[in-house]
Amino acid sequence: MSDSSRPPEQHDLVYQVQPGGTLQGDLRVPGDKSISHRSIMLGSLGDGLTTVDGFLEGEDSLCTLQAFRDMGVEIERPSAGKVVIHGVGMHGLKAPKNALYLGNSGTSMRLLSGLLAGQNFVSVLAGDSSLTKRPMKRVAEPLKLMGARLTLQAGGLCPIQIDPASLHGIDYVMPMASAQVKSCLLLAAMYAEGETRLTEPAPCRDHTERMLQGFGYAVKVNGNEISINGGGSLKAGHIDVPSDISSAAFFLVGASICPGSDLVLRHVGINPTRIGVINILRAMGADIRYLREYVAGGEPVADLQVRYAPLHGIRIPEDQVPLAIDEFPALFIAAACAAGTTVLSGAEELRVKESDRIQTMADGLQVLGVSHQVKSDGIEIQGVGHTGTLGSGTINSHGDHRIAMSFTMAALRAKGAITILDCNNVATSFPGFAELVKGCGIGLAQRHG
Ligand code: S3P
Repeated sequence: MSDSSRPPEQHDLVYQVQPGGTLQGDLRVPGDKSISHRSIMLGSLGDGLTTVDGFLEGEDSLCTLQAFRDMGVEIERPSAGKVVIHGVGMHGLKAPKNALYLGNSGTSMRLLSGLLAGQNFVSVLAGDSSLTKRPMKRVAEPLKLMGARLTLQAGGLCPIQIDPASLHGIDYVMPMASAQVKSCLLLAAMYAEGETRLTEPAPCRDHTERMLQGFGYAVKVNGNEISINGGGSLKAGHIDVPSDISSAAFFLVGASICPGSDLVLRHVGINPTRIGVINILRAMGADIRYLREYVAGGEPVADLQVRYAPLHGIRIPEDQVPLAIDEFPALFIAAACAAGTTVLSGAEELRVKESDRIQTMADGLQVLGVSHQVKSDGIEIQGVGHTGTLGSGTINSHGDHRIAMSFTMAALRAKGAITILDCNNVATSFPGFAELVKGCGIGLAQRHG
């Protein structure tokens, strides 16, 4: 099977961010990435038409969308954020002609590994240079216990080849709190004989469980145990995707560190398994309010208001780590501006994200003159305090979207311009980021170079 769908990778986008400014405005950040991926997956396997509003038109979720088109699913995109999926039912996917190219998206690769393990055709999952370095044994090992036939590359890396197999349910204690592993196994379990029972070591995002229930597929949740039976079906419906709290996080931090800031962020998902960033920022002294709370598409949502407040360092409770797992790059910038020391531990998972987020952030903090000590499972950061300023200079994001966006916010408190390299991948999760930040008070210029 050829890998001909792989587009060339771009690493040349540079952000030049002017120091200072304040964040003001009323805005809506793009749709939730996790929920957007899942809407395509379950919508494609549903019986009938699924309509999606607020879909994230970022490269990651579009890779998932293209993968299902490559497997014969008709998916329309009539207007921005709107998707119409002509579900083919649980057994209606067709063998793709080429490897499915999933770009930078770990969620696509890990969830699809499970979903495809029980199909009656061969598939190959490939990704970009970053995804090709990320660990895939965490999904392959439990899938093999279910009877799946997966072949990884040396070192447990992708591309992954998946051959047809008959799956059976397992009772599996997950070694790490990972929603990607949990979701992979839940999707495989729909094709398995009997019951699959998963035990998670700590709560992590539960969008798959919620959406399965929304599609009428029974999932039992009892404390940290989740069980599901194979052989069911999915009833198509409508999904309203909330704005991504992981994208809102940059603005929550930016406004919190920058005197005079006052921002309203509309329609943000506040699922309890995702609000670690709000809990941690509030514990540091942030002024974040819920203006209006409601439910959309089975998920709790709110309009948030965030205003500047002097932050202080804290020891981050380890139970908040899975609930804020994608928000630590932004939280490190909050810690860099806080008074006193912030201590993070129990966060070794950050080392296997789109980059090693402990080291990449530490290298950037070094450029800005922020004292810190790197640990194997976290970091300690000595903040510059309310009246201090961050330094300036050139930061390499190593193609990690969240690192690039976090250092954009750091410029609000810097004494000189910050240049951020390798920003192309901001488009994986946050299309329109540069325009949105410019519109609410940050002096950002982009160039290719
Ligand atoms: C995700 C789960 C998390 C998160 C990722 C999205 C998901 O990964 O970091 O950005 O949609 O399930 P892990 O499962 O590796 O923690």
